[in-house]
Amino acid sequence: MALCFWLYPGGPAWGKYWLRNRVSAKKPHKIIPGPKGFPVLGSLNLMVNLAHHKLSAVAKSFGAKRLMAFSMGDTKVIITCNPDVAKEILNSSVFADRPVKESAYSLMFNRAIGFAPYGVYWRTLRRIAATHLFCPKQISSTEGQRSEIASQMVSIIACRGGDQFCVRDLLKKASLNNMMCSVFGTKYELGSSNTETEELSQLVEEGYDLLGKLNWSDHLPWLAGFDFQKIRFRCSELVPKVNKFVTKIIQEHKLQSGRKIHDFVDVLLSLNGPDKLSDQDIIAVLWEMIFRGTDTVAVLIEWILARMVLHPEIQSKVQAELDGVVGKSRPLMESDIQSTVYLQAVVKEVLRLHPPGPLLSWARLAITDTTIDGYHVPEGTTAMVNMWAITRDPDVWVEPLKFMPERFVSKDSGDVEFSVLGSDLRLAPFGSGRRTCPGKALGLATVCFWVGSLLHEFQWVQSDDTNSVDLTEKLRLSCEMANPLQVKAHPRRNT
Ligand code: HEM
Repeated sequence: MALCFWLYPGGPAWGKYWLRNRVSAKKPHKIIPGPKGFPVLGSLNLMVNLAHHKLSAVAKSFGAKRLMAFSMGDTKVIITCNPDVAKEILNSSVFADRPVKESAYSLMFNRAIGFAPYGVYWRTLRRIAATHLFCPKQISSTEGQRSEIASQMVSIIACRGGDQFCVRDLLKKASLNNMMCSVFGTKYELGSSNTETEELSQLVEEGYDLLGKLNWSDHLPWLAGFDFQKIRFRCSELVPKVNKFVTKIIQEHKLQSGRKIHDFVDVLLSLNGPDKLSDQDIIAVLWEMIFRGTDTVAVLIEWILARMVLHPEIQSKVQAELDGVVGKSRPLMESDIQSTVYLQAVVKEVLRLHPPGPLLSWARLAITDTTIDGYHVPEGTTAMVNMWAITRDPDVWVEPLKFMPERFVSKDSGDVEFSVLGSDLRLAPFGSGRRTCPGKALGLATVCFWVGSLLHEFQWVQSDDTNSVDLTEKLRLSCEMANPLQVKAHPRRNT
């Protein structure tokens, strides 16, 4: 039987579906093209290492850029490298759910926004987060905290005195401090070490590693008893640590009765009636916010700085724009960002070439049978969008491999007003539709302001020939630089 299933386009999971439904189907369906992969395993091998590259190459070879089917063990998957089909999938209410991995369950993410099943609970969480964390008023009220962290980063970098350093650790710590401040209300000096930040950053790092791993038993249920990748074991070690860490913060907030609402913990504790969350749900939601908000921002800024070092003429253009808007006598303020058209074009161009989620991080799940691009797609199918392939497709972008922020500023290109927030699927690094990233405005505001500050204050140059900028990628939950950026930063503003 396994061999029969495997013979179908798309491999064993699709073969099983088509053979079992052949009798019941009223009319024969068009079959989605795709690789057979291996018997039983299907194309699980495509999902290791740089999955977005492999999936893009296979889709090309099958002439299936619009829609390709493949199997990950027992899981039926469809993937598109086409913006129109991506829109059809992401904006369809049928794909408003997510397939939940075992690690996501174990790490409580099914009780937080990202993996909560589509329904009342998920909608409530999104509404609460949208009102109290991500709305424009709330974002601007936290400007002071981002500005404080930016100036701490500037002081730390200035102290390096132009020596070579690895910028990643600083960016991750800045991003973590920023999220800890918004979510927990805790403020730490970036330069000083403290056990709470150290501990939380290790928890986030471990969670990242676990969620980013391909867990074979998610797709081959008969392997579930073995835990040979030790994912279940590592999750069971991590969860009590997260629980202990976050519970302590919640208890501290509860002890200060009559306290005004300062942070997201206060917001969640103040909920009443049908919105009231259990302590366990509060822990899950808080942990997710810290988790999601930390790495994405740091990863994107590292790619932007790498591009600035590789393209000094573009870096100079951003700096000329910043000097024109701000001058050299004062630091950048967040309100200046709206006048920095070229800086924003640079951020968009880096999002195009290096989307932090090349496969949009987390897939979608079909709640019912549906039709996509004229093909029948059954309930329970996992759907992915290869955003990386779309943003590098010569049929979609002119000279797609060229780093050219001008494409977002020149009137001729027609992309001057391009929004990266999900309305145009040619570049939608935050996803689109009901499950689009709720943190996109906050994430973009943080990235633009911090990158603007770092470029306004310093000239960024390559460290030396042995540590030249290497754009090789490593795909974990986000796609980061495989070799962390090593740079020198020379002050350019007289303080
Ligand atoms: C550069 C920054 C960021 C990028 C590139 C990014 C990207 C993404 C992507 C691609 C998705 C999946 C969207 C989809 O399925 O259509 C997502 C979901 C999500 N993101 Fe972000 N994100 C960023 C920042 C943030 C921040 C700062 C937060 C929170 C503090 C956040 C919280 C979330 C959550 C909770 C979800 C799940 C939404 C749901 O399932 O309803 N993200 N993000």
